[in-house]
Amino acid sequence: MLVRIFELFRTEGIVHTAITLPSRARRWLAWRVRRRYHDWVDGSIDRKYRIDTGGLNDNLREAGASGEHLTHGYGYEAVKLEVWREIDRCLDIDTREFTFVDLGSGKGRALILASLQGYKKVIGVEFARDLYTASIDNLDQFRRRTPSAPPVEILCQDAATFRFPDAKLVLFLFNPFDDTVLAKVVENLEESLRNVPRRAIVIYRNPVHSAVLLQSSLTLVKTVRMYSASKISFEIYTNGQDR
Ligand SMILES: C[S@@+](CC[C@H](N)C(=O)[O-])C[C@H]1O[C@@H](n2cnc3c(N)ncnc32)[C@H](O)[C@@H]1O
Repeated sequence: MLVRIFELFRTEGIVHTAITLPSRARRWLAWRVRRRYHDWVDGSIDRKYRIDTGGLNDNLREAGASGEHLTHGYGYEAVKLEVWREIDRCLDIDTREFTFVDLGSGKGRALILASLQGYKKVIGVEFARDLYTASIDNLDQFRRRTPSAPPVEILCQDAATFRFPDAKLVLFLFNPFDDTVLAKVVENLEESLRNVPRRAIVIYRNPVHSAVLLQSSLTLVKTVRMYSASKISFEIYTNGQDR
């Protein structure tokens, strides 16, 4: 904080800084309180099921990932509950008819949330072995407390090689990889939908490579901005099949 104030003095001058400091400090404090609150809310699922889905991990090699797409993957961060709830508000589906697939499933938070929402089946794919192992432990703990939850399958593999099941799909992507891998995933999805026509919905959180999806046969149906007017929180695509 002191370093930032010093930087303001240097770049904006003493008088301007002195005038604007109180309102800046209020905004900063409000932001810190909001962040603490959301961290606490995010931890609620871990506390409830005695699991650990939190934390950040940018070193996928150290986390046990390997293969040709190692450098195309982005680090681990679990989906925030408030984002998940907003996604849920936007989806007008009967979850019991759909299989939920999370490509880049990390420690399994989205898998647990999808399972709680009653999807017919839940599948996670994670290529970093330590994160995969953590997700298996988390799901074991979760199932002990929620034995009636729908089946959850977790695979330790590169998402680019994943073959989609012949089921109605909700595909969740929390910015797991770059456009090279995303293009392969979209190609696999399109091929699967051509072979067995059915409804598919893609939720793309933090959609930095949306160009790949925009160039595909899928249609963008919703764009949601939650934290700032300029940054997109997530996008929803469908293949237009209504059955
Ligand atoms: C931002 S995290 C998302 C975690 C989880 N989906 C959630 O919402 O809680 C992205 C994850 O994608 C994984 N990942 C990146 N590239 C991958 C690939 N090619 N195949 C499988 N997983 C990958 C990373 O290891 C990381 O755990």
